[in-house]
Amino acid sequence: MLKKNNDFSSIKHIAIIMDGNGRWAIKRGLSRILGHKKGLHSLVKIINFSINNKLNILTLYAFSTENWSRSELEISELMRLFSLTIKKLMYFLHNRNVCVNIIGNKNRFYFSLKKNIENIQILTKNNSGLKLNIAIDYGGKWDIVNCIKKIIKKNIGFKNINEKLVKKNLCLGNLPSVDLLIRTGGEKRISNFLLWQIAYAEFFFINILWPDFKCINFKNILNNFFLRNRRFGKI
Ligand code: FPP
Repeated sequence: MLKKNNDFSSIKHIAIIMDGNGRWAIKRGLSRILGHKKGLHSLVKIINFSINNKLNILTLYAFSTENWSRSELEISELMRLFSLTIKKLMYFLHNRNVCVNIIGNKNRFYFSLKKNIENIQILTKNNSGLKLNIAIDYGGKWDIVNCIKKIIKKNIGFKNINEKLVKKNLCLGNLPSVDLLIRTGGEKRISNFLLWQIAYAEFFFINILWPDFKCINFKNILNNFFLRNRRFGKI
């Protein structure tokens, strides 16, 4: 794929597993939640970079279905952080034409988090700039099970089951598949993120903890993406 200098607009969909907040904090003798708060700074910087560089779709993994097995304290502090951040960033993101969508189960969220999610989604739904998806209480396996339930509920016959239909009934079904998946923090796994949607994504596993992840690291990855030879099964 050819591109002009610093023009990343041809990359349709970027997904990021923001890993390493806990280790960042523990290394400094701090509580894990301080790592998450520091991670929030990286998140805001990366969102700003994405807006300024006219990126199309950014999908961020903030909390997995498996993360419910963390300590009650960490979970409640994280949920509070999500809720406050969504409320705090709502008008900033709206004024910058960002369309925000929170994907995931959400059944176990407390009332004010649900309310703040609803508010930001309603406020920003017609915005035409960056599409920002944040996965909270999300799991790729949950997404697939949920998709099967939706299809059965619609009484769709066996003959009409195809890839297009499955995609449409998954989270992000109206968006192009992921082109580029980044995981910070050094681990080389997917951790139940967008299983279907990353079928042909290019993976970048980066040895930098999320709170230390800078715009220049992001930019280098985007530039590197153009060096990959994407064949989609062809020769
Ligand atoms: C993974 O690091 C990160 C999380 C579970 C939370 C991510 C949250 C943020 C970046 C802050 C706010 C986000 C939003 C959407 C408002 P980890 O805790 O698994 O780190 P570790 O692998 O070092 O333990």
